[in-house]
Amino acid sequence: MSHFKIKEASVVNEQAQPILTHEKSLSHKIAQGSEAGDILDQQMIMLGIQLVTQLNVLIKTSRIYDRTNAALDKPVDTMLTLIKTMAHDHPVTLRLQNDFLFLGESHLKVTAQQMAVVTSIIDALNVWKIGGVTFESTAESKDLREFAALFVTLDPENKSIDDFQKEITARGINGITLEEQRQLQIKEGAETGEHKGSRTADGEGPDGTGSADLRTQRKMNAKNGYAKVGGSIGALTQSVREGGTVSFKQAKRAIQNIVDLMMDDEATVLGLTTLRCHDQYTHNHSVNVSLLSIALANRAGYPKGELADLGLAALFHDMGKSTIPIDVLNKPGEFTDEDWVAMRNHPTEGVLTLSKLRGITNLPGRMAAASFEHHMNLDFSGYPKLSVPWTASLTGRILTIADCYDAMTSSRVYRREPMSPSKVLNMMFSKSGKAFDAVLLKLFVNCVGIIPIGSLVMLETSELAVVVKPALDKVNAERPFVKVITDPQGNPVDQGREIDLTEQDEAGSFRDSIVRLIDNTEYKFDTSRYFV
Ligand SMILES: [Fe+2]
Ligand SMILES: [Fe+2]
Repeated sequence: MSHFKIKEASVVNEQAQPILTHEKSLSHKIAQGSEAGDILDQQMIMLGIQLVTQLNVLIKTSRIYDRTNAALDKPVDTMLTLIKTMAHDHPVTLRLQNDFLFLGESHLKVTAQQMAVVTSIIDALNVWKIGGVTFESTAESKDLREFAALFVTLDPENKSIDDFQKEITARGINGITLEEQRQLQIKEGAETGEHKGSRTADGEGPDGTGSADLRTQRKMNAKNGYAKVGGSIGALTQSVREGGTVSFKQAKRAIQNIVDLMMDDEATVLGLTTLRCHDQYTHNHSVNVSLLSIALANRAGYPKGELADLGLAALFHDMGKSTIPIDVLNKPGEFTDEDWVAMRNHPTEGVLTLSKLRGITNLPGRMAAASFEHHMNLDFSGYPKLSVPWTASLTGRILTIADCYDAMTSSRVYRREPMSPSKVLNMMFSKSGKAFDAVLLKLFVNCVGIIPIGSLVMLETSELAVVVKPALDKVNAERPFVKVITDPQGNPVDQGREIDLTEQDEAGSFRDSIVRLIDNTEYKFDTSRYFV
């Protein structure tokens, strides 16, 4: 038994007190504008390293002691404090990609002393082929203990990460979710040059590494841009809830960045909206609606200089929800009549909330419209109901389409089961001219495609592919750009080729065609990982 003692000693030595420099939500700081965002990033990374350290201690200790043993108290309590701080606004994810650890999207750079801990946790995650562990602030002591117990008792040799996740659910472990490993995006870009014979979809030279780099860079930029917008909306919502002051500067800058990226490469930016089924960030919906609105407005000829203002208005379309208690919003069960009244009031509450905020100079009109009109529908079949004649603004009509599309394709809003993008478009078309502006709806389809971005399709070759970009030419709208993700037998392929389905061979017939659409939500298949 003596070796247990030795182990115990080494475990205890690795314990470190967390550096908690703020008691409140850290992201609260962002709302003050300035460079607080950078401070936040740095602090989150520091806390991230603490979290890794404690997770390592917890796993190691669980290999020795039972889940109820007092030896687990310290790592568990420390982890809970860290999680409560870090996941205050949205869940926090530790990711492992190609042997690098990330906190969310930020690389956790470690010092030489921290190396041993990090290597140890990377090894432990690699054994399970775990690509990410997400913690939510609802996780409790028993959840961490039970999770760690499973981690060390299940046998990764004959259990998959899926089995592990199922066991987590079966045991009622709350607030902890696992993710599979995925390849680092840079690798994909770098390897594109090797597929010289393959047809690429970016149209910037088939095998120039320069274009691959550019594309990778763009994707990275888009992803960072998305995260920044998400961060701003999170912080601002939090600040409004706490009755604090709000600066829109940061959100504005983040949105302007998105608009610029969208002018370069609309498809990549819109591809980000498919992240909804993957990441659990609460504010994804607002960001997605903003992105989709900008794209639609751009196609509708909205003045370029005003796209960022529209995007900002769209970002805050659900601001009225900040008046609804969080426990109602997160209620697992059915809403009561009262809850519904509160929900139905959010467009009006949003106007009131926004009108009280400072820092929005010429925006309120557009912002008010975005909030007030987004559930109204073109034919006023929605809410709020008005007793006076009303003409919906262009902003409102754009928002209605973008909001509905994202809400229906995402599982998070109102906790419905998500629908596949093409089903949602069909449903929306059945209400064209009624709930939705017919012209705008057509333009919207031009953005996401008849077979929308993110759809899973089967090709003539029996390979499965994901739609990554609508067809350039409307005549061939049913021939988008796709990325192959499985071989004909359905086995996943890592660096699948991208195909422009409008490409023809020497004889003038199409090289590849879609034979059918596959419902990726039915198959619980997450296509978002092929975008970023
Ligand atoms: Fe809403
Ligand atoms: Fe919404």
